[in-house]
Amino acid sequence: MALKSIDPTKTKAWKKLEKHFNEIKNAHMTQWFEEDSNRANRFTIKWDDFFVDYSKNRITQSTIDLFLELAQEVELKQAISSYFSGDKINQTEQRAVLHTALRAPKTAQIFVDDENIIPKIYVTKKKIETFTNNIVNGESKGFTGKPFTDIVNIGIGGSDLGPSMVVDALSFYKNHLATHFISNVDGDHVNEVLKKLNPETTLFIIVSKTFTTQETLSNANTIRQWFLQSGNKDAISKHFVAVSTNIEKVKDFGVSEDNIFPMWDWVGGRFSLWSAVGLSISLSVGYKNFEGLLEGTYKMDKHFKSEPFQSNIPVISAFLSIWYNNFFKAESEAIIPYTQYLNQFATYLQQAIMESNGKTVMRNGDKVNYQTGNIIWGEPGTNSQHAFFQLLHQGTKLIPADFIGFKESLHGNNEHHDKLISNFIAQTEALLKGKSKEEVDNELIDSKLPKDAQKTLTPFKVFEGNRPTTTFFIDKLTPENLGKLIAMYEHKIFVQGIIWNIYSYDQFGVELGKQLATSVLKEISSTKTNSHDSSTKNLINHYKNIAK
Ligand code: F6P
Repeated sequence: MALKSIDPTKTKAWKKLEKHFNEIKNAHMTQWFEEDSNRANRFTIKWDDFFVDYSKNRITQSTIDLFLELAQEVELKQAISSYFSGDKINQTEQRAVLHTALRAPKTAQIFVDDENIIPKIYVTKKKIETFTNNIVNGESKGFTGKPFTDIVNIGIGGSDLGPSMVVDALSFYKNHLATHFISNVDGDHVNEVLKKLNPETTLFIIVSKTFTTQETLSNANTIRQWFLQSGNKDAISKHFVAVSTNIEKVKDFGVSEDNIFPMWDWVGGRFSLWSAVGLSISLSVGYKNFEGLLEGTYKMDKHFKSEPFQSNIPVISAFLSIWYNNFFKAESEAIIPYTQYLNQFATYLQQAIMESNGKTVMRNGDKVNYQTGNIIWGEPGTNSQHAFFQLLHQGTKLIPADFIGFKESLHGNNEHHDKLISNFIAQTEALLKGKSKEEVDNELIDSKLPKDAQKTLTPFKVFEGNRPTTTFFIDKLTPENLGKLIAMYEHKIFVQGIIWNIYSYDQFGVELGKQLATSVLKEISSTKTNSHDSSTKNLINHYKNIAK
């Protein structure tokens, strides 16, 4: 069933939310905490290894109740069922959206064009498992008979960000293979990586859903030329594998048929790490851990599908995002993981969230007259505390933030972990409470400063507080829990797209730049010039003068 087009701003619930917003917009959360000793429990969801405390948000029970009404009016329940059952909800590309099928059990039955897709997913999983085991245990060898030591993933966007983030996040579980990622068409990127590699012991995985992406094909060609300086054409079959939907193009490139891992058009690039696109993950942490990741993800899928909305983590998270984006007019959201392992998490989410929901057209083709896609950014704590937290605490912008932390230190370094977690907790308290003028005055009385200097300093030291945060406190950073966390954001994206009445699964917005770059490239290497604005013309000429 196609998704209906329902303008959220025309619903009764939206109007009620507007009224409710005007009533509570100036309230301070600290007052709500004082009035209701049960507030933290009321707004905490305990599920599996997750403890999600969203009480430090500018909401009351009425906010959630009104969002529940909104969910009903936009038919969220029906949309979730269309999503999981394989309806072509990516309507503009006429595709199903079934990354969830990649983690469904073997006994599931999910149909696309009358074909149950589960068997072919499991054939590919078996292929990933066998291939991984052979490389990791050294049975498969390079062209000179040596076992592999290095893996290089060549891909960009969804064919890079997901695997790269997960390999980094799970580095505690890593085996002996060194894993590298080459994405940018910047030749300095590929050359920097190649200089560390020995062609005899390196395996290259070319990942491209379409196998037409300029960056990936340029890098793959450069690497093939580099490789052929040592190995011959036959050696390519031992060292190059590919993941793609475009089997013919992969074969044309010279990858042998046995070395092709399939992908399907019902998996969007930015949601593809669960497919063979995650081969570098499986190679890096072993197939068992890759399976663990998928199992965790499947658990979150079940939670999202069956949990009532009031205790459904992705649904509540989506409500909060829309509350700030559309009512408080917040411009961005921060993601702050308190673990260095999730260093790339915000970057990964930027593609998942912004490529999905950065849209201006409703599902009926009309332009939206409200804000959609959130701007996502972030860095791990505590580093970020010493970088941009000043603005979170005292800047003019309201920036809701997700704080993600883990109870256990993987290396058991508890002394450090206590400090890390103290910061994790204290920052959300500071953002909530702030520091009043009275508190600042009392502090300054104890200082040795003269009275009028104290008075001058006071306004600069006041923190308004009332800055919203949601805390995701998770037992331990395991493959399973990472899977749950990523899937939580995937489903949050879905819910936001449904409420905003947009199509979340196409990405036409990245096409125009690609087309123009192709035509500029032609001009750079010829004497022909196309018509451009004067700025673009000057830039092309400036480069041509330097390059020639
Ligand atoms: O940036 C646009 C995009 O199409 C992404 O959606 C995708 O993840 C990326 O390019 C890479 O595409 P491909 O896997 O086809 O090379």
